[in-house]
Amino acid sequence: MTTHTTARRGWARRAAALLATAGLAATTALALAAPAQAGTTLGQSAAERGRYFGAAIAAGRMSDSTYLGIFNREFNSVTAENEMKWDATEPNQGQFSYANGDRIVNHAISRGMKVRGHALLWHAQQPGWAQNMSGQSLRNAAINHVTRVASYYRGKIHSWDVVNEAFADDGRGSRRDSNLQRTGNDWIEAAFRAARSADPGAKLCYNDYNTDSINAKSTGVYNMVRDFKARGVPIDCVGFQSHFGTTIPSDYRANLQRFADLGVDVQITELDIEQGSNQANAYRQVVEACLAVSRCTGITVWGIRDTDSWRGGANPLLFDGSGNKKAAYTATLNALNAGNNNGGGDNGGSTSIDTNAWYVLVNRSSGKALDVYNLSTADGADIVQWSRNDGNQQQWQFVASGNGSYRVKSRLSGKVLDVYARSTANGGEVVQWPDLNGTNQQWSVAISNGYATLRNANSGKVLEVQGASAADGANVVQYDGWNGSNQQWQLVRVG
Ligand code: G3I
Repeated sequence: MTTHTTARRGWARRAAALLATAGLAATTALALAAPAQAGTTLGQSAAERGRYFGAAIAAGRMSDSTYLGIFNREFNSVTAENEMKWDATEPNQGQFSYANGDRIVNHAISRGMKVRGHALLWHAQQPGWAQNMSGQSLRNAAINHVTRVASYYRGKIHSWDVVNEAFADDGRGSRRDSNLQRTGNDWIEAAFRAARSADPGAKLCYNDYNTDSINAKSTGVYNMVRDFKARGVPIDCVGFQSHFGTTIPSDYRANLQRFADLGVDVQITELDIEQGSNQANAYRQVVEACLAVSRCTGITVWGIRDTDSWRGGANPLLFDGSGNKKAAYTATLNALNAGNNNGGGDNGGSTSIDTNAWYVLVNRSSGKALDVYNLSTADGADIVQWSRNDGNQQQWQFVASGNGSYRVKSRLSGKVLDVYARSTANGGEVVQWPDLNGTNQQWSVAISNGYATLRNANSGKVLEVQGASAADGANVVQYDGWNGSNQQWQLVRVG
């Protein structure tokens, strides 16, 4: 499946040329490309930009119909404000309590929302029994907690805050002193490894506050993430809490981008901005910063109404105490709706996935299309790029896996993109294979500025044209995501 003979390539080239003259002109397809929609809710508009827009909610408020009504209407992701923390989920050592977390998780999943898990390990909100522990017994208890909770919620969590707030505010970028830190500096990586084993499908995030600008603390986190990536410690994302005063740091976007450039997603995880004359403008700036960074995959606000906020008196949220939309809400929605022109501009590529549609995936670097080599219908047939001709071997449908990921199905063969032999290696071959809904067949799709990045759920690597080749027949493989143009695909709707 990895080697092509000259004869196979030649045959495919002839077939492609034949199809190209069959009247399926590229211009026709471009005219059919879905326009960016002006969403009428935060979640809908964010989804149009390939992102989520979430809120932290409290299980105890879910019986408030105004509160739940706003949540259901506006958001497509949720974080439990307190219910999945250590004190809530393991109040006594070895006794787990998931009822309140489940209320939130099950409600969200039943409505097709994403769930951010928050938070497996943190120096605060530890149960009393853990606060009183130290050394190896605490380390063991902490890792057991990560394993048990991440296993319990396995398959339901989009992203886990594996470790929360582990850096100090000392102006030096040091680790925060805590009982967990005193078990040894490797406690964070031990937690990430345990979380990966327990729930291989969840993105694993480090989450912190006062890391929103380029400063000593965020640089401390940056150095840790860079070290983790270099040593193969599993980390997929960094959460920026973004509890702001009345202004947004001028280097906010640049800070998000420098983390994204390390090969992790970035997420705005606990956004709230103090009320004042600049509040609406500041929310707009946050949305624009996220949309400008292709690996900024979503925004979560830390509560629904001002009266639900942990920041009493700051009125830092998008809805007032009566549930009315504030100016900050309108600015946020408008910024989301305008977002398609941020950065690279609208290229005519679809900005959301329609599972009924057929798409040609055009590589940003080469301008060539994702193609089943040699018009094959066989298991293991290679996936390559080829000059665009819109033949069935270049048409793909996204089949939802129900967890936010998709299989990518060939119109020609009915088979799906598959990372061969479940490889997790850079350069792992992408072939077609019968649809088994395996994680190596599932791809999360993040669309930014009209270009999609497809990330494999098993390996965490992204679909790319190997070596940024421009040639017909060049291999399509998986590789570490670095936002290269050979890793970006325009989704052109053709059917
Ligand atoms: O539910 C009990 C109530 O029964 C009791 O009478 C009362 C007495 O104080 O406490 C109530 O629990 C409170 C809980 O919120 C629910 O309202 C806790 O005391 C209080 O400490 C807890 O505060 C939470 C805080 O984390 C804990 O540090 C906030 O709701 C929550 O918004 C906040 O969230 C954190 C993130 O997890 C991490 N980043 C910072 C963010 C803001 O501090």
